[in-house]
Amino acid sequence: MPRINFTVPDGSIQTVEANEGSSVMETGVRFGVPGIVAECGGALACATCHVYVDDEFLSAVGGPDDFEDEMLDDAESPRAENSRLSCQIRMSQSLDGLSVTVAPEQ
Ligand code: FES
Repeated sequence: MPRINFTVPDGSIQTVEANEGSSVMETGVRFGVPGIVAECGGALACATCHVYVDDEFLSAVGGPDDFEDEMLDDAESPRAENSRLSCQIRMSQSLDGLSVTVAPEQ
């Protein structure tokens, strides 16, 4: 099972195991990772699942599509080059060890 390392708003790191095919958001919610609000349940309509992807994984994760890109403009915390909405990142073994930082405000 691919692991995800979430750096949560208090600065600690929470490591969880994801099911392949699940999103980073779904995995975070399942394990009660602080700061993953996910108001819309993954419908790409809330931007409350904002994370910053660790540089090491940026190319493997890829960038947002046009719609996600627009949604990121409405995120509560400032967006950055490595901003993604975690409901749009599907886990696979190739992303094992993925590190993301949960945005401080959602
Ligand atoms: S959960 Fe709403 S946009 Fe990701």
